[in-house]
Amino acid sequence: MNKFSEDPRFAGIKPFEKKVWLSSPTMHGDEQHWVDDAIQTNWVSTIGANINEVEKQIAERIGVKYAVALSCGTAALHLATKLAGEKLYGQARPNEGTLQGHKVFCSDMTFDASINPVAYEDGEAIFIDTERDTWNMSPEALEKAFEIYPDVRLVVIAHLYGTPGKMEELKSICEKHGALIVEDAAESLGAKYKLNGAWVETGTLGDYNCISFNGNKIITGSAGGMFLTNNVEDANKVRKWSTQSREAAPWYQHEEIGYNYRMSNIIAGVVRGQLPYIEEHMAQKKAIYERYKAGLADLPVKMNPYDPDKSQPNFWLSCMIIDEDAMAPQVRGERDYLYKSVSGKSSPQEILDAIFAFNAEGRPIWKPMHMQPIYRTHAFITAEGNGRGRSNAYIAGSGVDVGADIFRRGLCLPSDNKLTPEQQDRIIDIIHRCFR
Ligand SMILES: Cc1ncc(COP(=O)(O)O)c(C=O)c1O
Repeated sequence: MNKFSEDPRFAGIKPFEKKVWLSSPTMHGDEQHWVDDAIQTNWVSTIGANINEVEKQIAERIGVKYAVALSCGTAALHLATKLAGEKLYGQARPNEGTLQGHKVFCSDMTFDASINPVAYEDGEAIFIDTERDTWNMSPEALEKAFEIYPDVRLVVIAHLYGTPGKMEELKSICEKHGALIVEDAAESLGAKYKLNGAWVETGTLGDYNCISFNGNKIITGSAGGMFLTNNVEDANKVRKWSTQSREAAPWYQHEEIGYNYRMSNIIAGVVRGQLPYIEEHMAQKKAIYERYKAGLADLPVKMNPYDPDKSQPNFWLSCMIIDEDAMAPQVRGERDYLYKSVSGKSSPQEILDAIFAFNAEGRPIWKPMHMQPIYRTHAFITAEGNGRGRSNAYIAGSGVDVGADIFRRGLCLPSDNKLTPEQQDRIIDIIHRCFR
């Protein structure tokens, strides 16, 4: 580990006076107005004008018929996954999940909230490796997974860091195998994808679609999420489940298990205040990405990739990956890490420590799900087939694992909307010094 203040490579660099965040909320003032409006009119529970308005505005913007406002993206993903399970396998008993006894293919390099709902519903997640062009689910690996597990009928697909995945290929593979898609657009609200020649928004690309208004997202309600659909019955079902599954009776009457997942009208007020600024936030994030790209161009690193012909990311997080031959030694345990500084090379942990030492926040790439202790016993499928059990004490194994490789060599850079060009230049300078 390094004492950066005493390291001559960093001589003359001043720490930021105010912390530079990875991605923090950016308020504009309108949020306060709609929150005050809710309080003054006493619509402070899970009914009210703010909720109605944000559901309408999001549905219009994204291009779906129905948006159902929920307490968080995780709640949206849970109910989307449950709906898919019920559609595929029928209604479950109250104490059982709809996916009991069934496998579900899942994005591997994502935040665990994407895929935990498979476990909430008693299903078994099978992780599909990542491709290098967008850092999302690999169509080749998905095709292999259907060869190995032809009975699977549900696929959960996330768009990492605001960059749409290869949805045309993924959708056509799912269609061929009669599988439904839960789309996790939590990180990619506002991003566009060219599907069969037409630009559409992420959040319209699955059979069940979800977004998040978590505090770190492109716009925020401080919390909150939405389920998006064109199917009125699905929208009504999610609305019912999210409000404790009450039946139309004078007393509390229940035919189905319920949840307390509805968005509050106060949270919806914050979302309502943020909605006019989504384009501004995306433009700021794009400028940050471009500035990193130009500023780091002379180093042996690349930015997180996207396909400009097929996608317009929302640039939620800017990330970089170090070329293999410029990787300094770095090892990670389950909680700790070690690295060595080597001239001309660096490592994600060294760069993250350096950024942190000068009062800025980066983050490791989301650790792939197949590497997580909780899911270590679950199957993992790569473009070559079964990604587990490939090692051998006697023969040097090969075996691709794209997710593990991006996790090892990549990192998320400070990507806050409020990052100034001067602050960003200092971060770019710190990264350069790591390679000295
Ligand atoms: C990919 C992804 N899915 C789901 C979620 C969960 O959303 P929420 O925090 O709103 O529950 C997040 C982030 O929080 C996320 O990044």
